[in-house]
Amino acid sequence: MRIDVISILPEMLENFVHNSIVKRAQQKNIVEINLHPLREYGKGVHKQVDDYAFGGGAGMVMMIAPIYELITKLKAERQYDEIIYMSPDGDRFTQKEANKLSTLNNLIILCGHYKGVDHRVREHLITKEISIGDYVLSGGELAAAVVVDAITRVIPGAISDETSALTDSFQDSLLSPPVYTRPPEFNGWKVPEILLSGNHQKIENWKDEQSYQRTKLLRPDLLE
Ligand code: ADE
Repeated sequence: MRIDVISILPEMLENFVHNSIVKRAQQKNIVEINLHPLREYGKGVHKQVDDYAFGGGAGMVMMIAPIYELITKLKAERQYDEIIYMSPDGDRFTQKEANKLSTLNNLIILCGHYKGVDHRVREHLITKEISIGDYVLSGGELAAAVVVDAITRVIPGAISDETSALTDSFQDSLLSPPVYTRPPEFNGWKVPEILLSGNHQKIENWKDEQSYQRTKLLRPDLLE
């Protein structure tokens, strides 16, 4: 899978794409992430990428021309399955959507800034808008990182223990059971005895029950 991220602040994502599971997935050629500095496509000596809003109002608007130029160039090189704009107005991002996107071949993710992008970008170039929650971030970069991370970790082979991503919270609409590691007792606080019993069937049943009980308690909406 290939993901092209368009941003005026690609430095914000540099560290992220060179660490952890996303880094390893790239080393294993499971995913290729390309960061595109939008400013390189800016106009004039100042490489302008934003301008005042027609009709007034506070905040600058990202211009269509640099975005159009870059997206057109990328589209000439390969076919894209989705061209995503990160925006608080978008569809709420879920595990289901991450799973779905992880099966695609080529994605573009456009990070917004300021007051957003010229609306013609959204009307004519974007195929999907994603929000990571009902709050406004200063830019789409952190949201794009969330989406790239969630997609990458569910691509088969990205996580060394391949069952691990499938047992994440939300994969079956249930929260994960609690996990413990050594020591079995700390400060008098004990690990549930069943986990030390060696009885795999009983342990699995316990985990399933814990998942269910935690979901019922903390996120009953997921059981509806
Ligand atoms: N850009 C700014 N806020 C955002 C959000 N909540 N989700 C996605 N992109 C955003």
